[in-house]
Amino acid sequence: MSDSRPAIDAATMKRLQDAALKAAENAYAPYSKFRVGAALLFDDGFMATGCNIENMSYGMTICAERSALSSAISERGAEHKIVAIAVTNLNSAASPPCGACRQVLSEFAAPDAVVSFPGEDGLELRPFREVFPFVFHLEAQ
Ligand code: THU
Repeated sequence: MSDSRPAIDAATMKRLQDAALKAAENAYAPYSKFRVGAALLFDDGFMATGCNIENMSYGMTICAERSALSSAISERGAEHKIVAIAVTNLNSAASPPCGACRQVLSEFAAPDAVVSFPGEDGLELRPFREVFPFVFHLEAQ
């Protein structure tokens, strides 16, 4: 298999994108009106979803991607790696995962995890390593 070919089949990716879209409908975004959904697929087939949850103290807002990750880890711990990520929004806009979410996801995502998101010119499918090339690592002391 060539390096650029996604390791996740198209039907699974579609299922993940649909789950992200469904989660976006639950977004609490009264301030930005920008409703985001995310879905994470783990190496054992487990799927978790999340949406953005805003707060009137704006900085306390949680993005859809980190909301999905919190849900997954709360439900069954942090033992499994993420193999695919789908992000979408209900605003017909580009929405790659933000920088903060990339750093947080990097701790759980395989470098070749497929990341699907609406880009400036339509749907993008990129390996995680391309979406976030310079990962900050803290070596255990
Ligand atoms: N947002 C996400 O949910 N994920 C991202 O990766 C970027 C931004 C949310 C946060 C906020 O509620 C809204 O989008 C507008 O920034």
